Amino acid sequence: MKKILVTGGAGYIGSHTVKELVEKGFQVIVLDDLRSGFEKLLPEGVVLEKIGLENKSAVKEVFLKHKPDAVIDFAAYLAVGESMVEPEKYFENNVENFIHLLDVMHETGCNYIVKSSTAAVYGNPTKDSDIPWKETFTNEYKPAEAALLEGKWGNEELSGEKFLQKFLDLYRALCAGRPELVLSGGDISKLRIPLSIYGVSKLLDEIILEKYNKAFGINYVALRYFNVCGADPEHKTGDCKPKATNLMTLIFAQINGKLPQLAVFGDDYPTKDGTGVRDYIHPSDLANGHVLSLKYLFSGGRSEVFNHATGEASTVMEVIQASEKVAGKKVNYKIESRRSGDPSVSVADSSKAKEMLGWEAKYRLSEMAETAWEWESEYKEKILK
Ligand SMILES: NC(=O)c1ccc[n+]([C@@H]2O[C@H](COP(=O)([O-])OP(=O)(O)OC[C@H]3O[C@@H](n4cnc5c(N)ncnc54)[C@H](O)[C@@H]3O)[C@@H](O)[C@H]2O)c1
Repeated sequence: MKKILVTGGAGYIGSHTVKELVEKGFQVIVLDDLRSGFEKLLPEGVVLEKIGLENKSAVKEVFLKHKPDAVIDFAAYLAVGESMVEPEKYFENNVENFIHLLDVMHETGCNYIVKSSTAAVYGNPTKDSDIPWKETFTNEYKPAEAALLEGKWGNEELSGEKFLQKFLDLYRALCAGRPELVLSGGDISKLRIPLSIYGVSKLLDEIILEKYNKAFGINYVALRYFNVCGADPEHKTGDCKPKATNLMTLIFAQINGKLPQLAVFGDDYPTKDGTGVRDYIHPSDLANGHVLSLKYLFSGGRSEVFNHATGEASTVMEVIQASEKVAGKKVNYKIESRRSGDPSVSVADSSKAKEMLGWEAKYRLSEMAETAWEWESEYKEKILK
């Protein structure tokens, strides 16, 4: 029986994946300090090591004790807006802690990892044919200046390019004296694509994976998930983040009277109703993708990056309508100005994951809304109480 160590396994997507791993017969160890996760979302019998990734020596002890065959790494911060005002927090958790994790893997002989990446690595399309996004975009498109929006670093207002370079200075300082981790000119061009520090941190993680693969033979799959919505159809887990950012979670919180009004950011995008277009994906489909990725790596598959999405384009207004339909109630919303770091359109081509992993999304938007509604209106409180 293969042993899988899951960082962030008590969180939203992590807990769906832990459930799937247990059902598929893997032995699971969760490493999570519960800063935004919940032990109650874990299936019975799963070992929880309540440790922060910052604590490198404790993380190493966990690896030496359990000797995992592979890692699935979910632990990260993921709020796009927050990353533009607290970039150092994103560097520490999403980049520095990730390097610690890879070092521990290398030091203890664990050579397989499946890593959460994101649609935020893509930035804004530059021409119509860029959509749906293909994984090759981040290798082929070479912008001269950062698409990153201007941001605030402490009290300093910085242009996108300066903001990016300051973020990369943290990386250069951390990796000084490690030639295997030096960024090339090509790496830096890639990092000019995302619009937010969150997106930069995740694309940098993919680049770091490539470097650990070349230098130390660590084999990886990075899954770029698009917008995750919905909950476990068996009602064992769902989104519980203390500070909700998930669109359906916010919609149902409004419908259930827990949020006075839903903010819709921007109705002046060049889309059919002016609101942002996204590609939504159910966490149980992602869970299946992680299990297939592990099987792919264990059977000798080469290190790769895959999109994970349905390929269906939905505007924010369409998500609101689908949610209103299952709840049988109207949402009280207000249009606000566009939010820093949000692209107008983000829809994926996931055919590479279909061809190489045999993965395909099963759940559609209406099922995401049904399962999220059941979770938010009945099961979430019961499980967390
Ligand atoms: N939710 C989405 O829409 C979405 C979309 C694309 C990618 N992702 C990626 O998926 C991953 C999981 O997202 P999620 O929505 O499940 O988030 P989440 O906040 O629900 O889960 C993250 C988990 O990691 C734990 N964690 C965070 N930092 C840690 C640390 N330093 N040490 C130990 N534990 C730590 C938290 O306690 C939590 O349980 C993230 O890497 C995120 O970037 C999420």
